Amino acid sequence: MKTTEAIKLLRQYESRNVTFLEADGSWPIVWERAKGVHVWDADGKKYLDLTAAFGVAAAGHANPHVVKAGQQQMGKLLHAMGDVHPHALKAQLARELSRLTFERWSGGERTGKTIFCNSGFEAVEAALKTAMITGGKYGVIAFNGAYHGLGYGALNVTHRDHFKSPFRLQLREFANFVPFPTKPSDLAVVETLIGRLFQRGRVGAILVEPMQARGGINVPPPGFLPLLRKLCDRHGALLILDEIYTGFGRTGKWFACEHSNVVPDLICLGKALTGGFPLSACVGRADLMDAAWPASTGEAIHTSTFLGHPVGCAMALAQIAEIKKLKLPARSAQLGEYLLKLLAEKIPGRSYRVTVRGAGLMVGVELRRTDGQPATAEALRAIKAMLHRGYIMLPEGEHSHVISFTPPLTITQAQLAQTVQELKKVLAAE
Ligand SMILES: Cc1ncc(COP(=O)(O)O)c(C=O)c1O
Repeated sequence: MKTTEAIKLLRQYESRNVTFLEADGSWPIVWERAKGVHVWDADGKKYLDLTAAFGVAAAGHANPHVVKAGQQQMGKLLHAMGDVHPHALKAQLARELSRLTFERWSGGERTGKTIFCNSGFEAVEAALKTAMITGGKYGVIAFNGAYHGLGYGALNVTHRDHFKSPFRLQLREFANFVPFPTKPSDLAVVETLIGRLFQRGRVGAILVEPMQARGGINVPPPGFLPLLRKLCDRHGALLILDEIYTGFGRTGKWFACEHSNVVPDLICLGKALTGGFPLSACVGRADLMDAAWPASTGEAIHTSTFLGHPVGCAMALAQIAEIKKLKLPARSAQLGEYLLKLLAEKIPGRSYRVTVRGAGLMVGVELRRTDGQPATAEALRAIKAMLHRGYIMLPEGEHSHVISFTPPLTITQAQLAQTVQELKKVLAAE
């Protein structure tokens, strides 16, 4: 089916406000297949993917080992019984996630325990429930610009009004938002505000992305996570890290918290975990998880039909093995430095100011007008122009004024250089 026909069907049969369809047909493209760092559309045109499809395809689209693991699993066992009769891969993946997180972080002294979920937002909700069931304190501290997903639980801790306001009357609004720091001098304010919130009482957790992706590729100063750890310890609260975007090598380490050696109480994982199957995980310190969740007497308090899906587990085990084999966290760190250097060379443009930031292969190019306002129209025009030149890119930030790079971690230097060269041409024309 060609692009125009598929778009026509979407217009007719998919709910409005899901796929953004430009009236003149200039957005979106219709994906037909993807391999490695490339995507082909329904008309056969080839693109370089600078998004890894929301960071999912960390080991490349359709990584052959991941595909094979999924295909073999499909032929053997397509579905098991979530919280009732399990399959062995779920146990193996839970062990692997423990090894990658709490065991690595503690030199083998501690283990982790996992609640599997489907989408990223569900992993966040599992973490919120864990915090609630632990101490009964319902309040959560979250951050301006935070994106934790859009289910009714997660929506409470996601910051943007755009997502919340139509549903506000059905939200419990248990979150208190604090500014996300971007420079060391912001930390004192963060500390004071959080201290005040703890004093008001009933706060059981701080939930944070170690680096914000959807919020506009925001990298906090190095003291941020250590500060949050200290405040959580002082006030008997849990530190929940949402590493759904930043996990699995995206920022140049296995997990972004490793940049500051902070160990959370709970970590939420998704996206790159499987390379393309909806499976997510909330991994917590085993002692904490055991204290929080009572032994099941037959009816789990929190579960879902597809919990720990066998195909997702098989793919995740293969994906993690690929990330290890290809040393993708280190590759991401090295390529990220290269990309930041390329982008640091002056980007031409008359009508806006450019700021570049990021870690590993999570990099943002922020455009602001000379009066400081977000240059949203310019950023969106540039992204569209890039698309028509064969480069898939996305805007991030509340005002969609940050052009982001989150490519498959298998991308090459040459492909990054070629993209930056093209982006500079496009921006120069603005
Ligand atoms: C940091 C973070 N948390 C949670 C989510 C929600 O994940 P999902 O869209 O799979 O529900 C996202 C999605 O972009 C995310 O970036």
